Parts: sequence; C-alpha cells; structure tokens
Amino acid sequence: MGYQAHFRVWRGDADGGDLHDFTVEANEGEVVLDIIHRLQATQCGDLAVRWNCKAGKCGSCSAEINGRPRLMCMTRMSEFAEDEVVTVTPMRAFPVIRDLVTDVSFNYEKAREIPAFSPPKGVAAGDYRMHQVDVGRSQEFRKCIECFLCQNTCHVLRDHEENKPAFAGPRFLMRIAELEMHPLDSLRENTGADRTEVAQQEHGLGYCNITKCCTEVCPEQIKITDNALIPMKERVADRRYDPLVWLGNKIRRR
Ligand code: SF4
Ligand code: F3S
Ligand code: FES
Repeated sequence: MGYQAHFRVWRGDADGGDLHDFTVEANEGEVVLDIIHRLQATQCGDLAVRWNCKAGKCGSCSAEINGRPRLMCMTRMSEFAEDEVVTVTPMRAFPVIRDLVTDVSFNYEKAREIPAFSPPKGVAAGDYRMHQVDVGRSQEFRKCIECFLCQNTCHVLRDHEENKPAFAGPRFLMRIAELEMHPLDSLRENTGADRTEVAQQEHGLGYCNITKCCTEVCPEQIKITDNALIPMKERVADRRYDPLVWLGNKIRRR
C-alpha cells in the first residue's frame, strides 16, 4: 500500500542553501533513491542527485539520511515510520556542487598520490603466483566501491578542512595497506620507498585514532580499521622501534 512520505531535502549550491519540505508518494519495497527520483519527476525537475546503478555497487548515491552517511539506493523506506520526516542532505566533508551532489575530487587527488603496484623484476605478469591467504586478504579491500562514505565520516576530515592536505583518509590508507600486504609488491626493492613510511609521513596515518567510524558506515562491510589501519600502525611501530627490523631495513636500503 502506498502512502505519503515526508521528506526534507537540502537544496542549494556552493553559495549556500537550506532544507525544503516535500510530501511524496512512497510504495512498498522502495528505497530513499526512489523517492528522490519521484520528487525529481513530479515536483522539482532540477533537483541534482548523482546515481548510477541503483544496486549498491557504483558508489555514486552517497548522502546523509537523517544525519547518517549512507547510500540512498540501499536505504529502504521500510526503515522509517510512515509519519517520520526523512531528511536527506549532501555529504558534509566535501564541497557542494548543487543540491545532493558534492565535489569528491579530493579523493581522486589522493588516489593519484599513492605509488602504484610495483611488480617484481624478472617475473612476467603471467607467472605471478600468490598464496590463497594473500589473495583473500587483499580481496576484502578490493570490494571497495569508492562511495567515499568512510572519507565523509572520519572526523579527521569531516570537521577539519585543514587536515585534508596531510591526511588521505581511511579509503586511501586502506589502499596503501592493500599494496603493503601484497606479497608481490616490490616498491621497496625497486625504489627504496617503504609503504608504511609513505602512509605515515605523506598520508597522515598518525592522524587516525582508531575511532572505527569509517568501518561502521562502509556499505561493503570492509573491516577498514581492524584489517587495514591497525595492521599498518603495527607495521610502522615494528619498523621504527624493533632494533632488528630497523637494522635489516638499513642494510636492505644500502
Ligand atoms: Fe565506501 Fe567502504 Fe570503500 Fe570507504 S572503504 S569508499 S566506505 S566502500
Ligand atoms: Fe578516521 Fe577510521 Fe581512523 S574514522 S580516525 S580513519 S578508524
Ligand atoms: Fe549505485 Fe547507489 S546508485 S550505489
């Protein structure tokens, strides 16, 4: 049975905006993105919203629903009472372009700064061999759909624009962890650069104080904090403070 849903949607642009109230039809089985589309189709044809797959896989429809960072296409209307006001606002950590669309280019800039996978010398691509346990570890990280909800949620970025140059955020620290844990990555052998030091010195791993908010909002249920960020912090500590590891690194770098 359909009903009239109460929506409060942020409308505006980089110069400012405010919340607008709408009453929109909702039907059984629908998600928040369906209601936003109906709003576009029936009441505000110029409402800006980014989406693509409507299946939780493209990472485009990220927004804040009743203050919580979520994918609009994966948030069922049945979660809310029929008389509840559902408030939809753009992600707060990124500059608004218009309405629910934000400029997430910060994330692409951070992605470009991370040194790419560095293959081992003398092994042809078809001859790469890895243990299943190593494949499994990095597969978890590769489930990322780049929705940037973790980036939007982490307080280091969300409340502190000034941290952005120094802190890559959980998604990209996880990307460094993925490469650091890759058994065939040979960045250190090939260039002398150490991914744990890259994470610590250039991408602000030390800013993360393990609040785990990033993990809580990840729609792919990736254990960002436990499986990527904490192991990276442990590796930094091992390399810096274990005298044998320190000596080994010194010798290897010669
Ligand atoms: Fe989104 Fe999770 Fe990837 Fe972060 S790690 S960008 S929350 S899918
Ligand atoms: Fe931020 Fe996640 Fe660390 S929310 S502080 S990156 S555990
Ligand atoms: Fe693709 Fe929501 S539209 S994740």
